Amino acid sequence: MAEYPDVRTLPLDETTRAALAERGLEYRLIENDRAAVMDAWSHAVRRGFAGPELSADEIAEWREPMSWRRVTGVYDPASPEGDRPVATASSWATPTTIPGGTLPLWAISTVTVAATHRRRGIARGMLEAELRDAHAAGVPVAGLTASEATIYGRYGFAPATLVATWKVDARRAEWIGPEAPGRVQYLDREDAALLIGELHERTLSQRLGEIPGWPRRWRGRVGLAEHKDDGVRTVRYVDAAGEPRGAMAYAIEGDPEDDGRGELTIQYLIAEDDAALGALWRFALEHDLVGRVVAHMRPVDEPLPWLISDPRVAVSSIKDHGWLRILDVPAVLEARSYAADADLTLRVSDPLGYAEGTWRVSIADGRASVTPDEGDPDVSLSGVELGSAYLGGFALPVLRAAGRVEGSDAAITALDAALRVPRAPFLSIVY
Ligand SMILES: CC(C)(COP(=O)(O)OP(=O)(O)OC[C@H]1O[C@@H](n2cnc3c(N)ncnc32)[C@H](O)[C@@H]1OP(=O)(O)O)[C@@H](O)C(=O)NCCC(=O)NCCS
Repeated sequence: MAEYPDVRTLPLDETTRAALAERGLEYRLIENDRAAVMDAWSHAVRRGFAGPELSADEIAEWREPMSWRRVTGVYDPASPEGDRPVATASSWATPTTIPGGTLPLWAISTVTVAATHRRRGIARGMLEAELRDAHAAGVPVAGLTASEATIYGRYGFAPATLVATWKVDARRAEWIGPEAPGRVQYLDREDAALLIGELHERTLSQRLGEIPGWPRRWRGRVGLAEHKDDGVRTVRYVDAAGEPRGAMAYAIEGDPEDDGRGELTIQYLIAEDDAALGALWRFALEHDLVGRVVAHMRPVDEPLPWLISDPRVAVSSIKDHGWLRILDVPAVLEARSYAADADLTLRVSDPLGYAEGTWRVSIADGRASVTPDEGDPDVSLSGVELGSAYLGGFALPVLRAAGRVEGSDAAITALDAALRVPRAPFLSIVY
């Protein structure tokens, strides 16, 4: 198997095809190069997410990211709109960053079922097919970002990275952070989208659980993909040598009842170093005519409270973001690096079977050796908890306190110490 298979060439899952056919539905692999078929599929995705009909310009923006994915749809021949699928999904194999390197990930996206066909097991059929396909291709973990946190646990997916929304009362946020040696400059949105893409790839390894992006992702962040003027402005930070080190997209909405002061929403912020991060935050916080700054999809361990005189005015709310589904326990455990030694027997349960088993996990000098074992487990958990703990974002003692992990104090403490990472895992992309 190639490490990153071209998933477009893989056959359609027969189990799900046959199950849907029995109900008069056709599960199909979409030919990405057939524009009319792809465009009807894209319309179905947008409707599935309860959005307005896509414009011709938006449809054009969709073509590139769908051209390299494995695109599937479910069709209902009895529907008067028979060319528009009643369910959609897409997937691709991509590296994802883990401690000490990268791991192949089966990314799943654009999962929708038409409101007319919901709650009949169509999504279940498609998701179970995706997992079988990923496993058959030898990809050790699947991943997604979820519209709702209640959908994917039943398939063994677990929240592995978190994001924070930060809200700051800008009038009370006096800057006490370092002076940045460079400067902030306005940048055309097209150029900003390109710069964000470059910075994202250059900084991938700084974030655990991150995946490479694609042009439409960045065009969306600067307000270009939707082809409407939504007031998004873009700036970059250049260092003392004039080298771009960060970029930010933001929009300001005025509040006429608040003395002309509005809310500045940071749509996207990427920084290659601490100086760029600080300079872009400071630009937002000190912007004229702004009373409040809001930033979505930021790290939970953003240094922001340390950069302002009153740390209490930076308030964060946290939610799950990147979900992982472990399909091959030895492969994922042996792929990452570790912060401490440990030697224990690990029991993993998995109703779908992929992660089920008992292994001796011996961690020394930062690497793990994982071999099948028949002994009594020192630590027991399900594939879901292992998925949450894998990147180091969730502590095992906390999961144990919730009754989700069992084991001796010593074994849980040792495994937890091995899994620790210096910064909270952070996936900056929605997919
Ligand atoms: C989420 C969605 C794809 C589910 O499709 P569906 O075909 O109705 O789902 P299924 O009938 O296969 O349901 C399978 C299981 O998931 C549960 N489920 C489905 N949608 C759910 C939801 N939104 N919240 C919680 N549980 C849900 C079902 O109750 C069922 O539970 P079970 O374990 O008892 O069998 C569909 O509701 C949808 O398109 N939603 C809008 C778009 C969206 O949010 N997509 C997800 C993108 S990340």
